[in-house]
Amino acid sequence: MDYSKYIKNVPNFPVEGIQFKDITPLIGDGQAFKACIDEFVDFAKEKQANKIVGPDARGFIVGAPVAYAMAIPFVPIRKPGKLPRETYSYDYDLEYGSNSLSMHKDAIVKGDKVVIMDDLLATGGTLEATIKLVEEAGGQVVGLGFIIELVDLNARNKLDKYPIKVLLKY
Ligand code: PRP
Ligand code: MG
Repeated sequence: MDYSKYIKNVPNFPVEGIQFKDITPLIGDGQAFKACIDEFVDFAKEKQANKIVGPDARGFIVGAPVAYAMAIPFVPIRKPGKLPRETYSYDYDLEYGSNSLSMHKDAIVKGDKVVIMDDLLATGGTLEATIKLVEEAGGQVVGLGFIIELVDLNARNKLDKYPIKVLLKY
């Protein structure tokens, strides 16, 4: 399926100079959303994932349905102050601003095979942080899935040892 007609480009959001890729038309179309999730389910099955991990917030939108379809756990990676129990935390720079992400320490155990899902790969900062948290807990990252990759930002250089599934490149 060609998903590009479901992505709206919004110039200068949330700050001047950023071309925001809005995925809400895609997830707002039932057939397109299902087709997109089905592609990631095939990918995660092929990689034999036993857990799906997704960063707050848009990673929840794409990650949780994949986990549901496979009947495997979904692990949320959250922004500061949201997880109630013991966490691993990691600070990183974003395409705009900086951030910190946390994961419950018991969410991943040694030997877990994890596919990480997010809507967008930009600088790769969010994904790098998420990978660090999974690996710190002893998990093995067996794949990364994104709806969109912003290729000019060269995030792949940081992530080249992981299999990547992307639906759209800009
Ligand atoms: C956005 C997007 C990715 C991240 C990509 O998240 O959903 O998670 O930026 O950028 P990067 O590759 O440069 O890290 P953001 O934290 O802006 O917002 P969200 O809470 O809506 O997911
Ligand atoms: Mg995000």
